[in-house]
Amino acid sequence: MILIDYKQRQPLHIKIYNRIKSQITAGTLEPHTKLPSIRSLCAELAVSHNTVEYAYQQLLAEGYIYSKPKSGYYVSLLDSEFTQPSSQNSGSHLTRLSGKQPVYSFDFHPASLAPESFPVSLWRKLLAECLQDEPRQFACYGSLQGDWALRSEIRSYLARSRGVLCETEQIVVCSGLQDSLSIIVPILRPQHSLLAVEEPGHFIPRSVFQNHLFATTPIPVHNDGLDLSALQASQSTVVYVTPSHQFPLGHIMPVANRLKLIDWAESVGGVIIEDDYDSELRYQGSPVPALQGLRPQASIIYIGTFSKVLSPALRVSYMVLPKRMLARYRQLFYESASNASLLEQRTLCKFMAGGHWERHLRKMRTIYKKKHDTLIQAVSRNFGDEAVIIGQGAGLHVVLELLNSVLSEAELIKRAQAKNIRLFPLSKTYIAKHSGKNLIMLGFGGVGSDKIDRGIELLYQAWYT
Ligand SMILES: Cc1ncc(COP(=O)(O)O)c(C=O)c1O
Repeated sequence: MILIDYKQRQPLHIKIYNRIKSQITAGTLEPHTKLPSIRSLCAELAVSHNTVEYAYQQLLAEGYIYSKPKSGYYVSLLDSEFTQPSSQNSGSHLTRLSGKQPVYSFDFHPASLAPESFPVSLWRKLLAECLQDEPRQFACYGSLQGDWALRSEIRSYLARSRGVLCETEQIVVCSGLQDSLSIIVPILRPQHSLLAVEEPGHFIPRSVFQNHLFATTPIPVHNDGLDLSALQASQSTVVYVTPSHQFPLGHIMPVANRLKLIDWAESVGGVIIEDDYDSELRYQGSPVPALQGLRPQASIIYIGTFSKVLSPALRVSYMVLPKRMLARYRQLFYESASNASLLEQRTLCKFMAGGHWERHLRKMRTIYKKKHDTLIQAVSRNFGDEAVIIGQGAGLHVVLELLNSVLSEAELIKRAQAKNIRLFPLSKTYIAKHSGKNLIMLGFGGVGSDKIDRGIELLYQAWYT
């Protein structure tokens, strides 16, 4: 039953909309419950058809309800993070699928990709070909370091596009950043125990290293990347960096600093872990070559992923180990099996060998550049002098700095959620508490191009009106 508070001074359609919305978010109206038909609700509340229709259309547009042709309106299945808004549970950095799927009308999460971008039918065809090629191969474990043919494809792609110089034997196919790091840690552990990480920065490296009893020191990041004097002072001998597109602020480390960083590593007998997670996606200027290519013999572990351009669900990534670490790697892991699925590796190999990867990359650059440009324009149109954008021109997100806002991050995110907008708290990328005030990450990969404008307009309304 939908009870309306007639004492409130609001238009009737807003009252109906608010009432149904609060019943959905409180869980009183359960997912997939059928709502009363427009006609019966009009009769029940003694209001006009248009009034109820308006309320339902608004709920539909914001994703609280869905419609089934010739059947009516039903309550959407909302993610728990949406129904109980708070900055604590407003989402992992990962865009997870679970039994409860988030239903946001506007998904500005930085790790979301364009849902329609995965080449489904081509992938299905290549996968079927792999199964037919030699069915017996799937009765065995794949090679520890990953499929050789895939590693050769990755090697030539890296040389061509990222300036990474290595032999195929140096490449290890992994199932994501965490997998790579859990291989790296025991390789480094005998000689190293202090890790320097970017502040702000990705939280997976610090948690993996801390789990293995490394002490981690946050090093501030400036417009030209990591603060090298602070690094020097930290006594660390291992550093995790994102020099080509700092995560999350988007800065590029200039070549002079890259060379200084390599010199630092050589002077302390240290190791650089270079995470080149999304550098394929540059929309302004030329691509920034990887740090590894500047001195391929140095102790630089290079990490890349297929999660940003192809799909995070595949769980296929790679790293390039310096030659001097290969013996230790094999000694430590010779009895282990690869965590990356052989079937996905073989399919990916066909995808790359057939030229589809390069084509897909070009297509994704075009799609994401369009979304990026739309987002930048929408922010400047709606926020004007109230905000500046940090880290534009690359990747799948930018950072918005709100210049005059007094709201906390938790409040900003809560207000966005009330408009059915999904955001990721940037504070999670800081080790120090209460840092990153007035900074909001705006991912644009997962939002439909046609929704970016409206989403940004709603954000402005949520925060400034
Ligand atoms: C800084 C950074 N590195 C790496 C990755 C990719 O991780 P994975 O290969 O585990 O999907 C991400 C994903 O969002 C990231 O933000």
